[in-house]
Amino acid sequence: MTLMDRLAAAVSDIKMRQSSSPRIGIVLGSGLGNFKRQIRVDIEIPYAEIPHFPVSTVEGHSGTLIFGTIADVPVVAMAGRFHFYEGYDASDVVFPIRVMKLLGVDTLLLSNAAGGVTPGFRVGDVMLIRDHISLSIVNPLIGINEPSLGPRFPDMSRPYDPELIGMAREIAREKGFELQEGVYYGVTGPTYETRAEYRMIHILGGDAVGMSTVQEVIVAVHMGMRVFGVSIITDLGIREEENTITHEEVLEAAAAAEPRVAELFTELIRRM
Ligand code: HPA
Repeated sequence: MTLMDRLAAAVSDIKMRQSSSPRIGIVLGSGLGNFKRQIRVDIEIPYAEIPHFPVSTVEGHSGTLIFGTIADVPVVAMAGRFHFYEGYDASDVVFPIRVMKLLGVDTLLLSNAAGGVTPGFRVGDVMLIRDHISLSIVNPLIGINEPSLGPRFPDMSRPYDPELIGMAREIAREKGFELQEGVYYGVTGPTYETRAEYRMIHILGGDAVGMSTVQEVIVAVHMGMRVFGVSIITDLGIREEENTITHEEVLEAAAAAEPRVAELFTELIRRM
């Protein structure tokens, strides 16, 4: 079965279950499960029921596709995403993003948990993603290009939409919360980085490092979607003292920052 056949099967199954045509897609990262409360839910479809969807396994990821509205705007949200470190092929990780596009989504809002590697970042900060470095991950476009999705050699000069970045800055200013900005450095995980690796990532131009997002952004840009992303800084890679990191600590820090991400996303959607 070709990629386009699998995508068509998933899209037609979803269209049979619900009739909205959201233009905005949202990917909820680690610890952001509560964001669901922002959505007036029409229907929630478990990934396992959608043909050809991979099934999420990681703690803190519930694994459903949510259709509903935020500020009366129809949205589709992924509660739980797929990570390369779980053993999926890169093409499986990005399958739901392609499904969203074929459902009519043209703007994608992504969130993730990430380690901060820039001096001045604190645990709990929200960082607007201005750009990313994807060279340490497997590019999801490797393989035969599907021209109906996008070009063989996509331009990546502006993966994160400048207009949405400008709106986010304005919202943060108005609402009076601090928004860091920086470059997201994508890695495969599942190990957190060594001290030397965090240092290297900083030297190479990263401000935050995480195990998701870049593959999704690459296919979204390939398909011509507008992308906006934020990282919640859940731990610090560069610091002098003891430097162990646990998944629990990451989830806790993400949950604490969630109200700011929720406010930012909700306001962006209202103003789009
Ligand atoms: N490194 C990689 N991924 C992460 C981190 C980190 O420090 N924190 C949360 N996700």
